[in-house]
Amino acid sequence: MQNNARSLLLSRTGSFRAEALGQTALHLVGNLCFALFVVGVLAFTIIAATYRPDEPLLLPSSPAASYSKLTAFFTSSTNATFRSDDTPLRTGEDFLNSSTTSSSASPDDPDAIHLADLSDSKSSSSSSAAASADCDDTQPINCADPEVFHLMMRATIESFPDVHFYRFGKPVRGGDGSGSCDMAWRFRPKDAKRAGFYKDYRRFEVARSNCSYSILKIGEYHTGINARKKKKKPKDGRDPSGEFVPKNKHTLQGSDPLVVPEVGEAVNDSLPVIESESKFSDGRYLIYSGGGDRCKSMNHYLWSFLCALGEAQYLNRTLVMDLTICLSSKYSSTNQDEEGKDFRFYFDFEHLRDSTSVLDQRQFWNDWTLWQKKDKLSLHLVEDFRVTPMKLITVKDTLIMRKFGAVEPDNYWYRVCEGETESEVPRPWHLIWKSRRLMDIVSGIASKLNWDFDSVHLVRGEKARNTELWPNLATDTSPEALMSTLRERIDDRRHLYIATDEPDTSFFDPLKEKYTTYFLDDYKDMWNENSEWYEETKKLNNGIPVEFDGYMRSVVDTEVFLRGKKQLETFNDLTSDCKDGINTCRTNN
Ligand SMILES: *[C@@H]1O[C@H](CO)[C@@H](O)[C@H](O)[C@H]1NC(C)=O
Ligand SMILES: *[C@@H]1O[C@H](CO)[C@@H](O)[C@H](O)[C@H]1NC(C)=O
Ligand SMILES: *[C@@H]1O[C@H](CO)[C@@H](O)[C@H](O)[C@H]1NC(C)=O
Ligand SMILES: *[C@@H]1O[C@H](CO)[C@@H](O)[C@H](O)[C@H]1NC(C)=O
Ligand SMILES: *[C@@H]1O[C@H](CO)[C@@H](O)[C@H](O)[C@H]1NC(C)=O
Repeated sequence: MQNNARSLLLSRTGSFRAEALGQTALHLVGNLCFALFVVGVLAFTIIAATYRPDEPLLLPSSPAASYSKLTAFFTSSTNATFRSDDTPLRTGEDFLNSSTTSSSASPDDPDAIHLADLSDSKSSSSSSAAASADCDDTQPINCADPEVFHLMMRATIESFPDVHFYRFGKPVRGGDGSGSCDMAWRFRPKDAKRAGFYKDYRRFEVARSNCSYSILKIGEYHTGINARKKKKKPKDGRDPSGEFVPKNKHTLQGSDPLVVPEVGEAVNDSLPVIESESKFSDGRYLIYSGGGDRCKSMNHYLWSFLCALGEAQYLNRTLVMDLTICLSSKYSSTNQDEEGKDFRFYFDFEHLRDSTSVLDQRQFWNDWTLWQKKDKLSLHLVEDFRVTPMKLITVKDTLIMRKFGAVEPDNYWYRVCEGETESEVPRPWHLIWKSRRLMDIVSGIASKLNWDFDSVHLVRGEKARNTELWPNLATDTSPEALMSTLRERIDDRRHLYIATDEPDTSFFDPLKEKYTTYFLDDYKDMWNENSEWYEETKKLNNGIPVEFDGYMRSVVDTEVFLRGKKQLETFNDLTSDCKDGINTCRTNN
């Protein structure tokens, strides 16, 4: 499995790139340069002004080790200009593998709720049978009846054999009909490789005759909206609302020192506020201002943002951040850079806000204007990135502001973290998770596929057309070649999720002979006008609908791919071409 993961990882750079959106030949030259650099053909470095770091994804192992490796990885050739890939970067939660958060992630996880656990506790509900004497089939169904609850849990466990369940919420009445109940549960796929849980809530059609209940139907993903309740954070880690957690199980909450994502839980990513003048005036702040990072790739953004965040943590200061993001043209449908995006469209601000001290700059400047004079708040301006965080430790001023000029690349934020700072100020990767709203789409797609599908990632686009650098790619990813490769690896009639940059998915029609194929766009209803995602992002965006952009697509496509039971990558698995062009394959490829 390690090897598998490794080869997958190795082949990811250069994949999922938005070729369809128009890559420049320059980029390819850049890739080639990096490749040459890697194989040690240093004579060619005249043209290799830049290089592209590989993806940090290469690095499994423990979270802490991963984060530092991740940083070390990027900075191993510090003086080269950071160049990012268009592939969504691995973020903090990707380094929390499931074995670090549970006693077991094996197919028989002892913490999961199994059918046997239900019969154990059934005795407690048998008293309801006594009521059968006066039961009346014409009465509406009481969803809170323990017998109904058990029946619903049983039906759920039986219907989703590839999922492990950890909690069931008490059912509530669903809709208007007297025959439906909504129930929520916490789960994760049986062979989860990543830490974290998912939440689903569905509507059940329940029937009763002769005082015995039966489940007629379980609704689709997230249909049980009445059971979707806001996450409460009880102080003692217990939930009083009558959830079903067998006594002998760990709850995987209170006892768990690691914070893990819970996809599907209601998101509360409201901006933090400072309650009082004295709190504000006693605070210490760091802000980065200006610079050439704006509208660059998302990986560049993160790389720079995490440098600022790392410095703030190092200095024990609140980072004053700009939550607006400029989306690079490479991910936009207009092929123009687009201002006015929100950090929260892409990343989990709730996790960030709850894990460290950050403040939105609008709120900050409001408060600053109000109290700066009165409380004699002072500002320390730093205009040279070569002033290291270590030199700022003794600064007492309320606000440290780093200003960045107009000349690239010296005006990139991440330059602050180069050189000797590298070893002193680590980037806090664990604070950045992907947006849970996007991950909820991933969970929805995987759930619709019953968490039982194989996946293949097909890179075509410009690379397939460039036969000089990728001589075999086009033929190796043609439907005919695919058919013969897949035949050996993936069983007939399997559900096959195809993550690809090929815009015309009918190209893959021949595969339908053997497999049931699915593409991202088959799940448009997960982000169209009637979706939860649409509603929530619109609310976040002051009532203006948010476009499901190229970066989001890429994140979701990648993450669904990574949840396939068998995953086949283009490079390594389907073609012997190297992902960065001819002769760039590494020895461990
Ligand atoms: C998960 O993390 C542990 C250490 O925390 C490591 O030994 C193991 O190899 C990791 N598994 C994967 C699949 O990365
Ligand atoms: C980066 O450049 C500086 C000076 O230009 C040099 O002292 C340092 O060793 C270089 N670092 C690396 C990792 O090459
Ligand atoms: C209900 O019970 C009666 C008598 O016990 C029986 O005749 C009838 O078939 C039962 N109906 C159903 C739907 O089970
Ligand atoms: C969201 O979180 C903030 C900060 O934790 C809290 O003050 C606020 O009440 C929460 N809002 C809702 C609707 O739960
Ligand atoms: C960080 O700041 C807080 C309050 O501003 C202070 O209580 C704490 O001692 C500081 N910690 C360090 C390590 O400087």
